[in-house]
Amino acid sequence: MNSRTELPGVWAEVGRSHPHESAMLHVLGSATYVDDVAELHGTLHAALGLSQQAHATFTAIDLAAVKASAGVVAVLVAADIPGFNDCGPIIHDDPIFADGLVQYVGQPLFVVVADTHDNARRAARLAQVDYTALPAHLTPEAAHAAQSYVLPPMRLQRGDAAARLAQAPRRASGTLSVGGQEQFYLEGQVAYAIPQEERAMRVLCSTQHPSEMQHVVAHALGVLAHRVNVECRRMGGGFGGKESQSALWAAAAAIAADKLQRPVKLRADRDDDMLVTGKRHCFRYTYEVGYDDTGRILAVKLEMVLRAGYSADLSGPVATRAICHVDNAYYLSDVDLRAFCGKTNTQSNTAFRGFGGPQGALAIEYAIDDIARTLGMDALDIRQRNFYAEAGRDVTPYGQQLDDNVIAPLVAELEASSEYRQRRHAAHAFNATSPILKKGLAMTPVKFGIAFNVNHLNQAGALVHVYVDGSVLVNHGGTEMGQGIHTKVMQVVAHELGIPLAQVRISATDTAKVANTSATAASTGADLNGKAAQAAARQIRDRLAAFIASQHGVSADSVDFADGKLLVAGVAFPFAEVVAKAYLARVQLWSDGFYATPGLHWDSASMTGHPFSYFAYGAAVAEVLIDTLTGEWKLLRADVLYDAGQSLNPAIDIGQVEGAFIQGMGWLTTEELCWNKDGKLTTHAPSTYKIPTVSDCPDDFRVALFDNRNVTDSIHRSKAVGEPPLLLPFSVFFALRDAVASVGDYRINPPLNAPAISEEILKSIEAVQLASAP
Ligand code: MTE
Ligand code: HPA
Ligand code: MOS
Repeated sequence: MNSRTELPGVWAEVGRSHPHESAMLHVLGSATYVDDVAELHGTLHAALGLSQQAHATFTAIDLAAVKASAGVVAVLVAADIPGFNDCGPIIHDDPIFADGLVQYVGQPLFVVVADTHDNARRAARLAQVDYTALPAHLTPEAAHAAQSYVLPPMRLQRGDAAARLAQAPRRASGTLSVGGQEQFYLEGQVAYAIPQEERAMRVLCSTQHPSEMQHVVAHALGVLAHRVNVECRRMGGGFGGKESQSALWAAAAAIAADKLQRPVKLRADRDDDMLVTGKRHCFRYTYEVGYDDTGRILAVKLEMVLRAGYSADLSGPVATRAICHVDNAYYLSDVDLRAFCGKTNTQSNTAFRGFGGPQGALAIEYAIDDIARTLGMDALDIRQRNFYAEAGRDVTPYGQQLDDNVIAPLVAELEASSEYRQRRHAAHAFNATSPILKKGLAMTPVKFGIAFNVNHLNQAGALVHVYVDGSVLVNHGGTEMGQGIHTKVMQVVAHELGIPLAQVRISATDTAKVANTSATAASTGADLNGKAAQAAARQIRDRLAAFIASQHGVSADSVDFADGKLLVAGVAFPFAEVVAKAYLARVQLWSDGFYATPGLHWDSASMTGHPFSYFAYGAAVAEVLIDTLTGEWKLLRADVLYDAGQSLNPAIDIGQVEGAFIQGMGWLTTEELCWNKDGKLTTHAPSTYKIPTVSDCPDDFRVALFDNRNVTDSIHRSKAVGEPPLLLPFSVFFALRDAVASVGDYRINPPLNAPAISEEILKSIEAVQLASAP
């Protein structure tokens, strides 16, 4: 825990476990999401018409039946878009509506607008399209074999991996496949577009990236950005799925609203949402790792093939982050790492919590798990043997020197508190006498780089208003998706002004208030916007200090702000009173603030530089029990230690760690995406796609924050928490693999792909039994 906050008598609004600013509204059901906003008179409802083919050309769409359907007001296709038919974030290869070519089942062809949501949805299915089928690549392997990529392949080399592999006393090699993951935000994609005078457009949108929605809508309408205003009060979850892919919904609603000059709402139902939007990239790996008899890794050669889907979307930075996380917590001297963004005729995959980092790091953990079993050693010993350490073993493959490495002490602390070694013996003892049920245990570390790996995105802005009554309204570029960014930014501003949190409010994120914002992503939301809001609040504080100091003939820096008061030469003045006087004296009581993360650079050609501001660390121990006859299993206990630096809000951070742990566990164990032979996603609803539920949480779940302080000058020396803990349930996956290995007396490396659904676990058990049969 944060020691600073435990000092008695020290006034602080940061470092305390304030509840989420909307917790009460969430519980009461009165938090407003886009679909809850009172509809304006004349509002119409839209639905998208979707492609039924994975790859085909078409000349015309017969919309007669759609138009004749009950309640339909209009149907709009690509030719009806007044501006640019694209909603892609980086490379412009994402049409809003397919124009003569479809590239996946579920690709939008048109938008139908009707009097009600149901009428629009019914009508959307009635189109007749004359397709001419083209050959389709439905798997990353097929795309790779055909060398069909959405972007040029990437490669990071350091040292001479080939030579060191050839010389290495031992080698581990293999293949691995890891599945994708649906974001499954509880609130689906939604946009409500309201036309304003002179072709201006106001869009209420569930998005992590209001500024990008503004630009996509402006381009689609063929108007300048200043005519488009995008607002987001909160999302019911984003998880990366609303970083770029909210754009389609915002654009389609705006195109219809502009054409009809009526408010149009487009709300995806779950099946359409899953059929249309991209997910976490599934990965296929081929690895070869050279090591010595002590388990020290000498060289790594790794090929990763990603399922990018039909367009680039964010696959470039995702693949880059994957390559930059293959090292995880380990010093890898000689590497040859490659990533191929396979172009498949499926949804365009996108950001998902971790953004390729989890996929990169899983590969090295899998190889380490192999090495440990081959050497007959505990995997934790192999991990510790390879940790980043002293000078000479402290530079990442991409050239960033670690100056904040705490992995060894953090892991040591968890090793002790979780009683890892004792429980290892206990699990072996249990398995020796239990023929059907088997226990497995694993401990895995995490190191995760914090910053957008696209340099210019590391900036943020904020606007702080102090009203005459002393209340404070803050607007910043970050968006609230449940992660608690608004609570943290409120705490930062309250702390800066020395006022209680209750005096500060945050207004909806709005492109008309703070311009040119970045997506709330890469776990940087509180880091960037917290600093920007602090800068804004600090200017107001300085003006108030100067004002009151001049009244009392003291120096401005002798004025203290604490507990709702200004302390001037031993006398306390209520904040609101000073503010009211300052107003009458014509002191500016509002300010903007800006922040750009210093010290970042990246060379994408060589894949080297200093892409991260700092690293967040963590570790987890998981203990599972599997039924070797059915492949069913249960997580018995999880122990987690996470490095949130000097946490801004320990309660929110612990909530983030718990949520990410369970979400990552779902990715690696139960969430399976399936496409049929025609390329249609068949798992497009919770009936067939299994996310974890409350009953999947371990009864014994021990989450704690590591006592640390950010070496980097981050906001109040805190560290980001949004994504890194998603890697902690690697421990669950490797605990399952450990339990399976017990079937072959730990002598055989079980082939286990993710998601390790029960069938996969059974297959793995059978493979081990076969290989260990006399
Ligand atoms: N937590 C909740 N409750 N809902 C979300 O959608 N998204 C995650 C993480 N935690 C998410 C969440 C992702 S993908 C990111 S990048 C971060 O929050 C973004 O917020 P931050 O940068 O403010 O941490
Ligand atoms: N995370 C999320 N979004 C991004 C990133 C990242 O690292 N880089 C570019 N967009
Ligand atoms: Mo998070 S995947 O960076 O939105």
